[in-house]
Amino acid sequence: MRYYIGADHAGYEIKDFVKNIFLSYGDEVIDVGTFDDKRVDYPDFAKIVSKKILDDIGSQGVLICGTGIGMSISANRFQGIRAALCHDSLSAILSKQHNDANILCLGSRVSGKAMIEQIIKSWRDCSFEQGRHTNRVKKIDKL
Ligand code: RB5
Repeated sequence: MRYYIGADHAGYEIKDFVKNIFLSYGDEVIDVGTFDDKRVDYPDFAKIVSKKILDDIGSQGVLICGTGIGMSISANRFQGIRAALCHDSLSAILSKQHNDANILCLGSRVSGKAMIEQIIKSWRDCSFEQGRHTNRVKKIDKL
């Protein structure tokens, strides 16, 4: 699986941590920045990751800002993007199984490293259940 990862200045440190979790599974990770703690605007990175995922069918992404809220609001402006802000493993699992989330959003100022590791592993290890969820997800794109 190929993952596109982006963060703003509040999330860039955690981005490396997240990246290494995926790399430890042998996943491909494409880091689109930011690469230091200089202030940047989260919508710019949400846009880069969202467009990459829409262009690269089957890929997924992770977006990190202070709360994860700005990233999720921004990414969800793109039709075909289903960005889920998760603070716990169960939400991460269900966001994939039921909502076919193709971007996971994390809040570096909200979730600690141990929880983030659990969230990433849970989200990575499950897949869309289809069935009754397929039509619901299709309806999202028609809104
Ligand atoms: C940056 O200070 C902060 O506003 C941003 O990282 C994020 O939390 C916005 O939703």
